[in-house]
Amino acid sequence: MAGKYKVPRGTFDILPTESYKWQFITEKFRQVTKLFNYREIVTPIFESSEIFERSVGEDSDIVEKEMYKFEDKKGRSLALRPEGTAPVVRSFIENGLNLQPNASKLYYLGPMFRYDRPQKGRYRQFYQYGVENISSNDPFVDSEVISLAYLFLKNLGIADFELQINSIGCSNCTKDYDAVLNRYFTPFLSDLCSDCRKRLVKNPKRVLDCKVKTCKKIAAKAPSMLDYLDKNCNEHFSQVQDNLKLMDIPFVINPKIVRGLDYYSQTAFEFVVTSLGAQNTLIGGGRYDGLSEQLGGKQMPGVGFAGGFERLIQSMENEKLSFGGEQIPSIYLVALGNKARVYSLKLLMELRRNGISVDIDFDKISMNSQMKAANRSKADFALILGAEELTTQSIICKDLKNGEQEKINLKEVVNYLRIR
Ligand code: HAM
Repeated sequence: MAGKYKVPRGTFDILPTESYKWQFITEKFRQVTKLFNYREIVTPIFESSEIFERSVGEDSDIVEKEMYKFEDKKGRSLALRPEGTAPVVRSFIENGLNLQPNASKLYYLGPMFRYDRPQKGRYRQFYQYGVENISSNDPFVDSEVISLAYLFLKNLGIADFELQINSIGCSNCTKDYDAVLNRYFTPFLSDLCSDCRKRLVKNPKRVLDCKVKTCKKIAAKAPSMLDYLDKNCNEHFSQVQDNLKLMDIPFVINPKIVRGLDYYSQTAFEFVVTSLGAQNTLIGGGRYDGLSEQLGGKQMPGVGFAGGFERLIQSMENEKLSFGGEQIPSIYLVALGNKARVYSLKLLMELRRNGISVDIDFDKISMNSQMKAANRSKADFALILGAEELTTQSIICKDLKNGEQEKINLKEVVNYLRIR
């Protein structure tokens, strides 16, 4: 029955047969953020495009190639948010959250938009969970944020992941390192992809994480950022590592992590899953001490991360992990004959008022078809109400797991079900 219209390329519907997985992850994410006393922040899905241009960076792929940018009817330049950090920092500054108690530890959930070539694990509308801690440049905060992501994945039961960390230094270290990279890559200029040739001029570090095979091969032997960190960045990075060891969080150092967004400084990290194929980063994050100033605020250091629901669901499915099961009603009501059908509305309301989930199919008339529907619903019990039961003010309760049934007083039904 395929219709005329399809979802836009790179987007998808979350169908009722899948939505419980999304709900499960949302709930688990809320649970873990609560353990760390993070609070939810919700920002609009579109923002002034300048927010992303100034922070994520005009030359980043996200802004240059992938941003859904448009003008509204008054000619304002807006963008569907490609990520959540810049909007959260915009809101933080705008609402003076630094002056309010308990407002520096934030989490968010919601759709993001990037116009990229769709493939498995990469969509044009995708859903992120993320946290931002905008308070301090203490490496203890980096470690705590990483531990939140780690505990979240662990609580979901994911086993196959690796935490990779790096430090990309501060502007002080970067100046020297950019020059070193330039000297290293220049002899290979003609072998680099056209994007990397541009990157070499604008932001040489980004050549390090190019996915093109030849660039990757050349980058493999490039000098490491870690050899060019200044004293402060070096100490910061060492402290993060010591803290992770103290918390028993295994990690590897990957000096090739540069992250594709310009706002990062010092700590950068990714949770990577080998079984996911090309799009194998479950979670990406890091420190962004200059972001608030880039958006016109005071100097306010921050650190955070975000991950995509789609890749998380895929890796949980690969590992055959549970999503807590589909939504199932406790009771299925079978109403036989017109009188019972009318009475069923009263009974449904009574059960629901008492917090008992119950379903019915008003379209099905016969006992057979209604019982089939009851079995298909996977409810625990069927309540069967016919003309005879109505005259004796009783109802049949059938246990759908073992087939046993019992006649009970219609007035006692709520109490009876509560006890069962
Ligand atoms: P990001 O690395 O661009 O970082 O994205 C984070 C995660 O979002 C990725 O690791 C991936 O799981 C998911 N993701 C990104 N793009 C797509 C896509 N097209 N389709 C499906 N999933 C995708 C950020 O967005 C930063 N704001 C993270 C951050 C927060 N850094 C500090 N605070």
